[in-house]
Amino acid sequence: MQKLTIRRPDDWHLHLRDGAMLEGVIGDTSRHFARAIIMPNLVPPVVTTADARAYRERIMAALPQGDVFQPLMTLYLTEHTNPDDVEEGKSSGLITAVKLYPAGATTNSHGGVRDMDKAMPVLERMAKIGLPLCVHGEVTDADVDIFDREAVFIETVLDPLRRRLPELKVTMEHVTTSDGVDYIKSASNLAGTITTHHLIINRNAILVGGIRPHYYCLPVAKRESHRLALRAAATSGDGRFFLGTDSAPHVDPLKECGCGCAGIYTSINTMSCLAHVFEQEGALDRLEAFASLNGPAWYGLEPNAEQMTLIRRIESLSFPDKIETGAGPVTVFDPMFPLHWDVEAHSGK
Ligand code: NCD
Ligand code: ZN
Repeated sequence: MQKLTIRRPDDWHLHLRDGAMLEGVIGDTSRHFARAIIMPNLVPPVVTTADARAYRERIMAALPQGDVFQPLMTLYLTEHTNPDDVEEGKSSGLITAVKLYPAGATTNSHGGVRDMDKAMPVLERMAKIGLPLCVHGEVTDADVDIFDREAVFIETVLDPLRRRLPELKVTMEHVTTSDGVDYIKSASNLAGTITTHHLIINRNAILVGGIRPHYYCLPVAKRESHRLALRAAATSGDGRFFLGTDSAPHVDPLKECGCGCAGIYTSINTMSCLAHVFEQEGALDRLEAFASLNGPAWYGLEPNAEQMTLIRRIESLSFPDKIETGAGPVTVFDPMFPLHWDVEAHSGK
């Protein structure tokens, strides 16, 4: 196949940041994606509906002229989140989901939840009004090995929560293990996002031949068998799995240092990378389900009316090594193979 036309895709997990970084990165998303679930882990985090409304306005103001893009806002769940405020956010149409970060799990998550009991009133209200919970599925206990944090989270946090509140719709974000894939398949009212980079790299990319900070993200990439399980899930067409890039820009000085930040920047080349992966798996006909159909179905939205055409070029494409933002340079994800699938056009432009 040399040409593929799909519905215009959406990104169901994205970090846009704020200020100069937001201005520097948003065009790479809005060029291709019609909508994205916007992560609330700013400093300070997006906690209230008023915070989310103001952040949405800053995003719309930073959007390149002519781009048609809809940010789907989320709230950062804390132990003090007010259920009434959450309900107002949903009923006004502003809030698409609430995000659970276990305290300390990842970038800017120190204000996250320590004691799930304290979050129960909000979670009960969300179950009642049909507002999904997005979870960063990792425990933070110091005695749990970092490569086991997702599996332990499923067993000790997610499964008990789902038993306690089966009506709550949960999106397990950036699934990185076969344990996560198997759990999603076995459960109801549960779906999972998968990132572009976890379909491409395993933990060797971070550690072999030197320490490579631009392949470090959270949840950290796991061993090869897990990557293969993610590929199988993503390319299966199963409606419970869909794209959330988790594109997470950090300026190079904050990645290339003694204690580098977690996050990989993939917005700019995600569609080319995904087409490559789906072609390798003989599943180009299922790229549309993963990138454009399964996500909206899960969130109760229509798929985008516009279409995107990808074309396989003979010559390999060239993406910049870095993008320059007003906040500083951000290194672009290098999949370590040449990319040939080019986004030719989409009818949203
Ligand atoms: C994200 C970030 O930088 O905000 N980092 C990452 O490695 N994905 C946070 C997150 O989603 O865990
Ligand atoms: Zn993220």
